[in-house]
Amino acid sequence: MKSILNEKNLKRKKILLRLDLNVPLENGKIIDSTRIDKILPTLNFLIQQKTKIIILSHVGRPKGKTIKKLSLKPIGEDLKKKLNTSVKLITKNIYEIKNKEFFEKFDEEIFILENIRFYAEEEKNDFKFAKHLAGFGDIYVNDAFSCSHRAHASIQQISKFLPSFSGLQLDLEMTALNKITTEITKPITCIIGGSKISTKINIIKNLIPRFNNIIIVGGMANNFIEYFGNNIGKSIKEKNCDEIIEEILSLSKKKKCKIIYPEDVLVSKDFNGSSINKELDQILPDEMILDIGPKTVKKIINLIDNSKTLLWNGPAGYFENPNFANGSIKIAKKIIENNKSNKIFSVVGGGDTVSLLNKLKLVGNFNFVSTAGGAFLEYLEGKKLPGITALN
Ligand code: 3PG
Repeated sequence: MKSILNEKNLKRKKILLRLDLNVPLENGKIIDSTRIDKILPTLNFLIQQKTKIIILSHVGRPKGKTIKKLSLKPIGEDLKKKLNTSVKLITKNIYEIKNKEFFEKFDEEIFILENIRFYAEEEKNDFKFAKHLAGFGDIYVNDAFSCSHRAHASIQQISKFLPSFSGLQLDLEMTALNKITTEITKPITCIIGGSKISTKINIIKNLIPRFNNIIIVGGMANNFIEYFGNNIGKSIKEKNCDEIIEEILSLSKKKKCKIIYPEDVLVSKDFNGSSINKELDQILPDEMILDIGPKTVKKIINLIDNSKTLLWNGPAGYFENPNFANGSIKIAKKIIENNKSNKIFSVVGGGDTVSLLNKLKLVGNFNFVSTAGGAFLEYLEGKKLPGITALN
């Protein structure tokens, strides 16, 4: 994979830049601009190199139809403000755009094509559509790791027609992810939460051979607690998971990876209630587990202290109610403390974990926080991502 950062002679080259500007929009307003802000260094780099930039991105899932509320207009306006340069949105049908329409005027620096998913050809990975897009530029850059699990025209097919490079953000994401998959400094620990084991089984199975410890927290830990003979009251759990748990336990034994699940918990009778600390054999039928208990927190902190690399995906409890945010907060603070003293390399990802850290205003304190949802999870499952393979 070649990075655009190492390319010389980019001056006046037309760069087709695939970004993930898929930010939440409400009534034409951007609700969270994290993904836009993250990409500014790439755009500034390309501007400094005196390139001409044509941005390709999608927003939402319009499924080949033009949907006004999924226009990239507010995103273009936001970029214009933040970069203090000319950013023009082209809303014209892509097939009618003539090459000479780009950068006619001296001061034109950035163009954005309207939502690429307004064209059904995008998701079909259409050859002709990709070729047509490629005709607008001299070089293709993918700086959308979070879309790279999609075999779509502007992500995979397009790279067949142009010299193709990774962008600055994609490089950072790959470097961080390599440190938890291929270039690992051990001991390495994963803290994994979420409500369903079935959605995380492939990640756990893929990590077991390489990891020293996998700590199961959140809703899916309830299945483990019950599997080991405890009553979990009315806690959330996934049905028919014994086989999955047995598979995890037997693989972990073979590969000498420790599986850790909560030793004590915080419970309540409802989601809005206050917390009571319980041993696993004390949970009543009308109670539900909503966080890990203090003994478990201590054990996890100890494991973090004994790790050199850490991956965290999924909060430890129902953090939306502050009475059950303690486990996640203690984990976050311990990782941050060890990061500051360079004792650990930490990668955090997943929608819930990122929103928890945003809520706590702690998001900037980890070595790497991935904003990629599906792509992050598929990468951890060990799948090859079509957008990355295309760059190789
Ligand atoms: C994301 O938000 O994860 C990316 O933009 C990909 O979106 P998608 O799941 O609609 O392909």
